[in-house]
Amino acid sequence: MSEKPRQPTPPDPVAGSDAVHGLAHVAIAVREADPLVETLVHGLGAVRGGEELLDEGGLRVVFVHLGPVTLELLEPKRADHTVAKFLETRGPGLHHVSLEVRDLVAQLARAKAAGVRVIDETPRPGAHGTRVAFLNPKSLGGVLVELCESSAANEGEPRG
Ligand code: CO
Repeated sequence: MSEKPRQPTPPDPVAGSDAVHGLAHVAIAVREADPLVETLVHGLGAVRGGEELLDEGGLRVVFVHLGPVTLELLEPKRADHTVAKFLETRGPGLHHVSLEVRDLVAQLARAKAAGVRVIDETPRPGAHGTRVAFLNPKSLGGVLVELCESSAANEGEPRG
């Protein structure tokens, strides 16, 4: 079996178990997820994925798959949820970008050591049994970034 020739990769001091290795999802805040799911399914051939309630019922999360891309639609169920406040001030739109990491604690420590401001000092539960931590958009070009670690048991499952 012949392998595709690969581009030589420069030495990367940050590669390893704590490096980012993929895009988990792009999250969009909406007042109602279902109409957007319908649009994505019929307009772009998306496939509806799973959904769940997070934050003790305060946030409904619906996953939508478009080829290798996963969108996470965030629909707040309580007016005091941070996503509800986001919608109030900014309207619907891009909420965060979620990056897959293998070792969330190590990645978080490295980001902090480099002066990146964090929202979550320690990992917290995400969708589908993942652990996540948010980094402050003020350190990252105005984009809210979520680091997402899926447990070994979830490998190959949809990521949250
Ligand atoms: Co997310």
